[in-house]
Amino acid sequence: MNGLRGINGFQLFWWVILPYLALATFVIGHVWRYRYDQFGWTSRSTQLQEQRLLKWGSPVFHYGTFAAIAGHVIGILIPERWTHDIGIPENAYRWFSASAGTLAAVLVIGGVAVLAARRLFVARVRATTSAVDWVALILLAIVIVLGIAETVGVGLLGGGYDYRQSVSLWFRGLFAGNPDATAIAHAPLIYQVHATAAWAVIAVWPFSRLVHAWSYPVWYLWRPFVVYRSRVASRPNEPGTSGRRWRRIGVRY
Ligand code: HEM
Repeated sequence: MNGLRGINGFQLFWWVILPYLALATFVIGHVWRYRYDQFGWTSRSTQLQEQRLLKWGSPVFHYGTFAAIAGHVIGILIPERWTHDIGIPENAYRWFSASAGTLAAVLVIGGVAVLAARRLFVARVRATTSAVDWVALILLAIVIVLGIAETVGVGLLGGGYDYRQSVSLWFRGLFAGNPDATAIAHAPLIYQVHATAAWAVIAVWPFSRLVHAWSYPVWYLWRPFVVYRSRVASRPNEPGTSGRRWRRIGVRY
């Protein structure tokens, strides 16, 4: 394990053991929640309490987040060597990530502002917010604000930082069983706190309303129609009469 050379016990705990604990909690927590709380497996939507702000805040936040997730795949999961080999130099990558990332950041922060204001100031929505929701939302807010500070503050307006040589190596290494803890231990503090808060989000994920992310209702496309019936009992139509009392000539039963 080359990536563990020269690190102390605290760094080993923080950058290797904690992430694995968070991942284990994520996996086991989902299995547990699925087995014991399928009826509670929901986004706990507050659309019935308030619609006007939700209608704008939610799509803007989610589309911005999807763009940011795509950015993580490109910047964290895809090795810098690969983009270099297809002729994209670090400088070009940096400008792409700073500009596309800033666009995503505008959407995420716009959506978050609406959703956070709604949750804090609309009493009916606030009343539905549980303790674990508050924990997940505060952690998410920390991760988002720091992530945007990295993209806009460091990438766009600052001198830039090649996190693909440190943060990304460590992150991918965790899944290959060879995490480069030395690399993340020497990254700027803002990247370290962003990643740490992200692990905390991952650990609370299965116990919060974030589980709704895995339940996009695609089965709606194939399931049978929901049949609505009047509450007042009525006699069914005689077959072939479409409700009239007489039957068209030639229509069979
Ligand atoms: C340990 C896991 C994670 C790592 C290593 C990581 C790393 C990073 C890095 C390096 C950036 C800067 C990208 C750039 O400047 O081009 C960033 C941005 C960001 N991160 Fe993360 N991140 C992680 C998890 C998360 C999670 C769980 C969220 C949750 C929502 C998140 C939200 C964001 C946001 C919103 C940005 C700004 C993106 C943009 O403006 O396009 N990150 N992250």
